[in-house]
Amino acid sequence: MQERHQGYRAVAWAAGAATVRAMPAALDSLTATIRGRRTVKAFTGAPIASDVLSQCLDLARWAPNHRLHQPWRFAVLDQAAIARLALFLRSRDDIAAVPDAIKGPAKLAKLLAHLPSLGAIIQVTWVRDADPTIDLEDHAAAAAAVEHILLGVHAAGLGGFWSSSAALAHPETLRWCGCDVQREAFLGSLWLGHPQHIPEPSPRRPLSEVARWL
Ligand SMILES: Cc1cc2nc3c(=O)[nH]c(=O)nc-3n(C[C@H](O)[C@H](O)[C@H](O)COP(=O)(O)O)c2cc1C
Repeated sequence: MQERHQGYRAVAWAAGAATVRAMPAALDSLTATIRGRRTVKAFTGAPIASDVLSQCLDLARWAPNHRLHQPWRFAVLDQAAIARLALFLRSRDDIAAVPDAIKGPAKLAKLLAHLPSLGAIIQVTWVRDADPTIDLEDHAAAAAAVEHILLGVHAAGLGGFWSSSAALAHPETLRWCGCDVQREAFLGSLWLGHPQHIPEPSPRRPLSEVARWL
């Protein structure tokens, strides 16, 4: 057995084994991570260490997924790639026109102003399935993978924002990111970086309102 200290509690697992054996203390640690994660939209502009980014991204592979479809796909942009993306976005009138000629350019300008503050972006897509039931499950699995990444990012002391930016979701942007837009659909853009500040938690319905115990 090997011991690693994660935050304030120790988690033990079999060395080298793929399956982590959760210890009771791990629940406290996980609860703190889940409840502490916030959507962060203001970043300092500092880069993210590539090994930290890789470790967070790798968590995605362990999300539950039916039929082991592993439908998630990721395009990872470091700061150099984000700078190239900004040049690309500035050059495309068709992207600036989404969702319309009034709102589009203003939204794109806001996005372009944000980009230099980010440490990384992960463009997330999932591979579509012709069967709508399976496609819905694959969409859900990819969303679970996104949450894994966001929790990892938070646990690493970084911040994340699941964005649905129309410019980043645009098929031409996805193509620029190397996505196969014939087979994949956009799930979100993860804006990652060093937080300027951590927002207050947003309100949540009490468990009694959303759960029935039978
Ligand atoms: C599928 C999805 C898309 C989202 N897209 C956006 C977005 O485009 N803009 C935004 O401000 N927040 C977006 N969010 C983030 C939510 O607004 C955020 O999770 C919510 O306010 C709760 O805050 P918290 O993440 O700090 O708990 C998105 C979240 C999800 C799950």
